[in-house]
Amino acid sequence: MPTQEQHLLLSVVAGLLLLFFHPATSKSTIEPCSNSDTCPAILGYTLYTDLKVSEVASLFQIDPISLLTLNSIDISYPDVENHILPAGLPLDVPVPCSCVDGIRKSVSTRYKTRPSDTLTLIADTVYAGLVSADQLREANSISDPSVLDVGVSLVVPLPCTCFNGTDNGLPAVYLSYVVTADDSLAGIARRYTTTVTDLMNVNAMGSGAIQAGDILAVPLPACASRFPKFASDYGLMVPNGSYAITASHCVQCSCGPGNLNLYCMPASLAVSCSSMQCKNSGLMLGNVTWKQSAAGCSVTSCTYGGFVNGSIVTTLSTSLQPRCPGPQLFPPLVAPPSFVAKHSTFAPAPAPESQGGIAATPLSSTVPSTGSLPGLVTPANGPAGSASGVSSARSITDTPNALPILLISLWLVNFVMHYSSL
Ligand SMILES: *[C@@H]1O[C@H](CO)[C@@H](O)[C@H](O)[C@H]1NC(C)=O
Ligand SMILES: *[C@@H]1O[C@H](CO)[C@@H](O)[C@H](O)[C@H]1NC(C)=O
Ligand SMILES: *[C@@H]1O[C@H](CO)[C@@H](O)[C@H](O)[C@H]1NC(C)=O
Ligand SMILES: *[C@@H]1O[C@H](CO)[C@@H](O)[C@H](O)[C@H]1NC(C)=O
Repeated sequence: MPTQEQHLLLSVVAGLLLLFFHPATSKSTIEPCSNSDTCPAILGYTLYTDLKVSEVASLFQIDPISLLTLNSIDISYPDVENHILPAGLPLDVPVPCSCVDGIRKSVSTRYKTRPSDTLTLIADTVYAGLVSADQLREANSISDPSVLDVGVSLVVPLPCTCFNGTDNGLPAVYLSYVVTADDSLAGIARRYTTTVTDLMNVNAMGSGAIQAGDILAVPLPACASRFPKFASDYGLMVPNGSYAITASHCVQCSCGPGNLNLYCMPASLAVSCSSMQCKNSGLMLGNVTWKQSAAGCSVTSCTYGGFVNGSIVTTLSTSLQPRCPGPQLFPPLVAPPSFVAKHSTFAPAPAPESQGGIAATPLSSTVPSTGSLPGLVTPANGPAGSASGVSSARSITDTPNALPILLISLWLVNFVMHYSSL
């Protein structure tokens, strides 16, 4: 027969256990900032249920094309935006990282509440631990989280970092990674081809200890652009092994695998685009020609210089190089995934099915477009902003040490069990 005291004790225990297991005990890497620039950042997101590509994109208010290309998914796949992605699929989600109240975060995502939503459900399930119920409550000034109106548009503050768009002096885009129960720092480092030391430096960790729910900043090597500040795609960065579509879906830029120089060419299904030809030449964006001579190799290329006032800027440049360039290599594309690979958590690629290997164009004096990624016509979601935000301070917010709470909880559980058995 439960007495009032028993009931009270049990709620205290439940409360303490909740405190212990709640993400409130987890750490997240915070980057202080002082300017208003934004940089491109990535969220490591795991699908909580089967969702269409367009539904995932709308969950984060991003362009479906940018979601697909970042994950190296072939956008020429029929009806790709309605393709259903499976629950449990890890996806890289591109978001603009801003500076809000002196801290780097992404606040461009809004969530419309549905019946039977709770802040905990939205935080832990829908956004897969990228945000906490407390952060949702604070960001939306919710005084009583138990009464959540339906149809309310909530700001979803998401963790991101810029760190000047570099890691050890090389271009990098930062991924916010939510640690799971069976992760180790070495495993995460291996998965993202970085080192434990680098992860510890980036996240200002005193030890290699991590726990489920922690959010780590993971640097991904990327190709940086050098567009002028007034270009609408200024600051574009493309992680190694992926693509981006820019210039109102007219230009596609890829990164890797041969080198980390951004390679841009016309998007194959581009329509109503401004000229992509380099002035005073027969060369189109992405064309490279060369001539071998005794002095070396004279390489002429027509490169993309950004999207300015609705026009595609092209630059013709010639340089003398010791060797002639090989064929342009392209990152392999995958079909939109329909199932989650068994060991997907250890695989570097986000999608299990591979559609062919690295696409290399035949060796010739001109490198043509492969036309692997048609430029679908959907509204542009400008690869926001710049990669500046100079701030070297890296810190981790530490919430109260969990051990005493665990000990008290265990003691209370013990006490209650003893008490109830009397
Ligand atoms: C920021 O990155 C630029 C290159 O993108 C580099 O020249 C500069 O030194 C970096 N600044 C800091 C503080 O790391
Ligand atoms: C880029 O990706 C390719 C293929 O995955 C890999 O071989 C190469 O080492 C990567 N480059 C860097 C700098 O990480
Ligand atoms: C873009 O167009 C506006 C007016 O249409 C002009 O004032 C501005 O200088 C242009 N910017 C560039 C970079 O050409
Ligand atoms: C130049 O690039 C265009 C577009 O990518 C391609 O169709 C063409 O074959 C390339 N070569 C020449 C010589 O123009």
